[in-house]
Amino acid sequence: ALLGTAGATGLVLGAAGGGVGYALAPEGSGAPTEALSQLGARRAMFHVKHQPGITTPLQAKGHLLAFDLLAGKGRREAANLLRRWSGTAGRLMAGEAVAADGHDTGVALDAGPASLTVTFGFGHSFFSRTGLEKQRPEALAPLPQFSSDHLDAKRGNGDLWVQIGADDALVAFHALRALQKDARGTARVRWQMNGFNRSPGATASPRTARNLMGQLDGTGNPKESDKDFAQRVFVGAGDGPEWMANGSYVVMRRIRMLLDEWEGLGLAEQEKVIGRRKSTGAPLTGGGERTEPELDATDKAGDLVIPLNAHARITRPDQNGGAAMLRRPFSYHDGIDADGVPDAGLLFLCWQADPLRGFVPVQRKLDRGDALSEYIRHEASGLYAVPGGAGKGEYVGQGLLE
Ligand code: HEM
Repeated sequence: ALLGTAGATGLVLGAAGGGVGYALAPEGSGAPTEALSQLGARRAMFHVKHQPGITTPLQAKGHLLAFDLLAGKGRREAANLLRRWSGTAGRLMAGEAVAADGHDTGVALDAGPASLTVTFGFGHSFFSRTGLEKQRPEALAPLPQFSSDHLDAKRGNGDLWVQIGADDALVAFHALRALQKDARGTARVRWQMNGFNRSPGATASPRTARNLMGQLDGTGNPKESDKDFAQRVFVGAGDGPEWMANGSYVVMRRIRMLLDEWEGLGLAEQEKVIGRRKSTGAPLTGGGERTEPELDATDKAGDLVIPLNAHARITRPDQNGGAAMLRRPFSYHDGIDADGVPDAGLLFLCWQADPLRGFVPVQRKLDRGDALSEYIRHEASGLYAVPGGAGKGEYVGQGLLE
């Protein structure tokens, strides 16, 4: 049984009971989950209208993967894989063992689900591999090339996309291995990326997460309480193929931060690049994180306080014909590369009902003159159709694959 009820975040407190679950309390005692901190006990729901991992609060640990179907594997095998994956994801998100027979690596033993989410998507190539071209949404057309792209095709796109997030690294890894095993004989991993965010509870003043440049990143995001939130982020019935109703499109960009160059800038210069204060996230024209910037304000010399090429000015929906997206990234750090510089940055993930009214126009604009562009490099890219959540007894993508 669950303790507590789902709040606005879609997370509930409590863990699964029943014989196949992890030993959260002495077997059969029916005792509540005293040994788990609130963090471990937090549970996101799998059978929901929109897949988990989109509006779920950022988790501390993330794995992103793409899979390609093996030669000779098509629609039927893909359907079986999505059925297996959905079963595994639903069980693990409830804090249960991978398989009912108890066969499990044990990596997450003793742990609660720790807000685990698993999200599944389909890439452009999936539809030709499975003979489903007629079902391929127009919105999945390949992203245009941008002049600043330095993309590694081997680490981009792919037939199937999986996002794993959890507030515990072992819970996340456990899910990763289970999903990889489910794919054996059907699909192989094309690329994998690992990311992180601040751990919940690490700050006494919870606010928007910081990225590896030190900025509060996510301030301007559409809020679930906004009237047009669902319309911006989720596909409405009648927009494109029926199987995408309640789904969303995710753009993934692996964006390297040129940290040596960035950290060489003084604080005032860094703040001009974004147009916001680093400490509080407030616009340079004053106030707090949530204060509206005064875009026309000038200083004594007559210069705009928030420069014309400031990142937070040119990305605004009102500067882009209303284009908006929900950014939900992970930071990454894969050590030092052959040139001796950190291979670190942002696994930028943005969610929208249509990439042509979200990522594409904004990235076009950034490509033409973003003060931040000197300090970042886009190194990999993917676009995926993420269907709506699976109903009880259903699997993700069933509307497409059956
Ligand atoms: C805003 C950082 C890449 C779109 C911001 C802000 C920061 C930031 C610090 C201001 C606070 C906020 O509203 O979140 C970064 C970094 C990037 C990056 C470090 C790369 C490593 C991108 C890309 C896009 C994008 C590639 C889309 C093409 C936006 C949007 C806003 C924003 C839409 C909010 C604008 C508003 O509504 O006020 N970004 N950004 N960013 N960024 Fe980025």
